[in-house]
Amino acid sequence: MDISNNSDTLRKDECPLGEQDGMLYGEYLQLDKILDAQRMLSKENNATVHDEHLFIITHQAYELWFKQVIYELDSVRTIFNNYQGLDESQTLEVLKRLSRIVLILKLLADQVMILETMTPLDFMEFREYLCPASGFQSVQFRLIENKLGMKQENRVRFNQNYLCVFGRDEKGLEAIAKSETEPSLAYLVEQWLERTPGLETDGFNFWGKYKKNVEFMLEKYYNESCNAENESERAYKLADYEKRKSLFDSVLEPSIHNALVQRGERRFTHKALQGAIMITFYRDEPRFSQPHQLLTLLMDIDSLVTKWRYNHVLMVQRMIGSQHLGTGGSSGYQYLRSTLSDRYKVFLDLFNLSTFLLPRCYIPPLSDSMKCQLYLRGKRANNEDIQKNNL
Ligand code: HEM
Repeated sequence: MDISNNSDTLRKDECPLGEQDGMLYGEYLQLDKILDAQRMLSKENNATVHDEHLFIITHQAYELWFKQVIYELDSVRTIFNNYQGLDESQTLEVLKRLSRIVLILKLLADQVMILETMTPLDFMEFREYLCPASGFQSVQFRLIENKLGMKQENRVRFNQNYLCVFGRDEKGLEAIAKSETEPSLAYLVEQWLERTPGLETDGFNFWGKYKKNVEFMLEKYYNESCNAENESERAYKLADYEKRKSLFDSVLEPSIHNALVQRGERRFTHKALQGAIMITFYRDEPRFSQPHQLLTLLMDIDSLVTKWRYNHVLMVQRMIGSQHLGTGGSSGYQYLRSTLSDRYKVFLDLFNLSTFLLPRCYIPPLSDSMKCQLYLRGKRANNEDIQKNNL
């Protein structure tokens, strides 16, 4: 088709970006740097392997998205790290940024599939050129873990000495060392939960009421168990009662809770856990609805990091089997599989919260003054939101 007469075709002097000075798309994005950064080692060794290109692009795409996740995480931590704690008028912004992180992580977990179109035979053809480079040396991945709140003592033993793989990367080492000491998102969320309105013992005293209702509920269950119709049902119900009682004791007794924290089986302080339970109970109150969404997003983040780990480990098994060592020197598949456990969940307590929930009839009703307190706070935060967004 002859397009020279097409009325949509622009003459050179009409072209808005033609010969005028000014920034071009490629210049703004510095595409010369990014698109020139795919160095195929197989090609340099005169044995080009087609799929090495995909391997490089996939890793680079991951690292770019890691950068964005860190950018969002840092900004959320800054908002939380206000000297008075989270400014409630900014909760919406925090939710927006955490939701964005969730969407990126979903993409990253799915992206593994694209690399799985490479066959193990193809991978084998260029794998030797990579040694000892490995995703194990991804500084940004460690930064994400640490900034979320991954504690060194919760890493599996092989991974506790993770700094040693960064060798001469001084900038990377410095960034990781900093991320180990600055307040993580988990720490900041913990502080925020401790300030949940209604926990004050001289006010609504949520925990006092919760404890009383748990005791009442357990006692009722104990009496029902004792009155069971036959011996076997009674034995079953009493054993179940004992189990429930010891679970509730573990949250009602600060000393048991603290021992579990020491053992790495719980994460939050006792007070923060109380805040999380309270928010979960009263999430329908307007004042608690955004905090509840926030807790849900934190769980989503943890879930998606675990899903990424799982998809990655399956891909690794497909590519190198379960016996080969990794190029980074670990046991490969076996090491990666060990990172799928609960030790790697930063917001583990939020997942386990359902253990301590009560049937609705046992949830302590909010007092009038508590309702009023929540309403006023919620209204104030809403007004600040509206003012900020000039609505
Ligand atoms: C053919 C594809 C891949 C294979 C065979 C593979 C293999 C491995 C192995 C064996 C390890 C354990 C450390 C070691 O000894 O090397 C590892 C760790 C890691 N890989 Fe991959 N990987 C692949 C793709 C990717 C991709 C696309 C990424 C994206 C950034 C990635 C990121 C990581 C990270 C962050 C770790 C450290 C995980 C941790 O320590 O928890 N890998 N990989």
